[in-house]
Amino acid sequence: MKYQVECGSEAQHPEPAAAHRARTTFTLNQGPLNGPTSEPGLQEAIPVLSRLARDPYFLASRILPFVEKARRVEDWYVAYRHDDPARSYSLQVFVWPPGSATRIHDHSSWGKFFCAVGSVLEERYKRLDDGSVPDHAHLEELWRFEWGREDGISTVLPYEGGIHRVGNQSEEPAISVHLYGPRLGEIDGRDYDPSRAYVCNRPDD
Ligand SMILES: [Fe+2]
Repeated sequence: MKYQVECGSEAQHPEPAAAHRARTTFTLNQGPLNGPTSEPGLQEAIPVLSRLARDPYFLASRILPFVEKARRVEDWYVAYRHDDPARSYSLQVFVWPPGSATRIHDHSSWGKFFCAVGSVLEERYKRLDDGSVPDHAHLEELWRFEWGREDGISTVLPYEGGIHRVGNQSEEPAISVHLYGPRLGEIDGRDYDPSRAYVCNRPDD
């Protein structure tokens, strides 16, 4: 089974719309599940994001217009989002003004992102408890890394496979491009507060 998304912008480029859409249309294969690293579409997401990172049309229409806006907002936001009609995956462009950061959270799907402008700091955590106590989670930081444009693609797996916080600790705006796979549950993911060993579901937007 295959699914496609188009993320072209007809209005902001002088070339014919069809030509532009052809460059920014991609297909992910939905293969069999053989383990955490073979989630449907997960491996195909790497070349998709790599191509978008090099696509001047995507950069011009979906990235660069938000750089200056990032200087005028106080918190991070999703500037562009394309959900495939079957909700099989979601492409999202995140804008990070200086000093902004998410909560510590996970996702009910796999996800991949690259930093297109500036740099974003990712902190990654692992869960030490077994999840048997409601609303309780004990986290330990695994690593942190500041992703720049040349640093490649970060990957999170669903739920405990990708507990992280993403933010921008630099003095300049940052923009990152995220591709999420199909959800494994009804919720969007979970939010964590390690100061009180708390976790709660994060409902859909
Ligand atoms: Fe995330």
